[in-house]
Amino acid sequence: MGKKVLVVGGGGREHAIVDALSRSPQVAKIYCAPGNAGIAEQAECVQLKDTDVDGLLAFAKEHAVDLTVVGPEAALAAGIADRFRAAGLKIFGHTQAATAIESSKDFAKRLMAGAKVPTAAYRTFTDFDKAWAYVQAGSLPTVIKYDGLAAGKGVAVATTAAEAEAALRDMLLDGRYGEGKVVIEEFLTGPEFSLMAFVSGRQVRPMVAAQDHKRAFDGDAGPNTGGMGAYTESFAAGKSGLSFISDADYDFAVTKILQPVADAMADAGTPLSGVLYGGLMKTPAGIRVIEFNARFGDPETEVVLPRLKSDIYAVFEAAATGDALPELRWKDVSVMGVVMASKGYPGSYSKGAPIAISPSFSESIYHMGTKWTDDGLVTAGGRVLMVVSEAPTMKEAASRCYAGVAQISCDNLFYRKDIAKYVL
Ligand code: AMP
Ligand code: GLY
Repeated sequence: MGKKVLVVGGGGREHAIVDALSRSPQVAKIYCAPGNAGIAEQAECVQLKDTDVDGLLAFAKEHAVDLTVVGPEAALAAGIADRFRAAGLKIFGHTQAATAIESSKDFAKRLMAGAKVPTAAYRTFTDFDKAWAYVQAGSLPTVIKYDGLAAGKGVAVATTAAEAEAALRDMLLDGRYGEGKVVIEEFLTGPEFSLMAFVSGRQVRPMVAAQDHKRAFDGDAGPNTGGMGAYTESFAAGKSGLSFISDADYDFAVTKILQPVADAMADAGTPLSGVLYGGLMKTPAGIRVIEFNARFGDPETEVVLPRLKSDIYAVFEAAATGDALPELRWKDVSVMGVVMASKGYPGSYSKGAPIAISPSFSESIYHMGTKWTDDGLVTAGGRVLMVVSEAPTMKEAASRCYAGVAQISCDNLFYRKDIAKYVL
């Protein structure tokens, strides 16, 4: 019998997960909570919040869902995987305790230190005066990270003492994010990339790498965002899928970073069971960890999963049950995705702007924040749409992708024109 799957979340990442699941020969029915206007074309959207664990659990039982797949970290940090497993339901996603690899920078740093995983040198502080004294005695720039989940806003790269002091004040004294704890770390330089893996206990199945573009505007200017575009290159670039990450770099990242972290988490009694996302940097001294996430990256997922040839349901199910993870097979193509965001994002922006997609549009499109209304498709979030194209080369993927973007009309959207410029 065909399987019923519930995907938790409602952004571009979940649209890409739903799309990948829809290619599985085993999957008969996909629900998505809460989903969005684009997801609704491939799945039945369910009006439940991603952190409504009681509601999601009741829904999964009532509809005899075979497997639940969790997108957002908030749901994992709320303990959705623990609750589903306790109820005897299969779920792809880490326990609340294992999610600490993302939800506590201090936990992640201590784990890396114990497992000898290369990362920036750091100290942890809860006291403002001590933290401020440490910054004044050190060099600039310095990096100050709030310890808990802060929706991507908990990192300050301070180039002046005044900026560092303001960040420390914000995170330790003003109580803006709750109880204050910060990690202060060494400033590293080099290109960043994202390497995600399916992990189940000590089993690690790395995906192809991708590069995100975190700043809002061309040339890496403007504020940090959730990510404005991503790409992954064909194997002509090497096995990593990025031409600036050599095969040796990729092997190092898998064997000296991802595998030791999986082992350390298992040793600590908090085994991973889901996606481990390494935010990595290729520094002059080698590959270093910038951060870990306990979930698929967004927008990286939207360019990586289109390359997955293996049956993703089989991968999710094996991780959920602790079975052997299947080998992953990848399409040898370059994929590029451009995010179209509401003007003003990541600051304040308005919603409800009508979106028109040309009938001749023929690229893939993942919806990030859209809604259907009586007036048709409208914007409903900061990041709104991601146009994704694949081609034999990055250059062709880029030109197809931007041609696709030009076929979308909306007077309240902006996008970066330099995605993948680093390799083009
Ligand atoms: P994170 O939320 O940890 O990914 O940090 C956001 C961004 O801050 C990263 O993508 C980096 O560009 C930058 N960043 C974080 N840690 C460091 C570091 N140790 N050195 C330099 N840049 C950093
Ligand atoms: N693209 C960065 C993230 O998902 O955190």
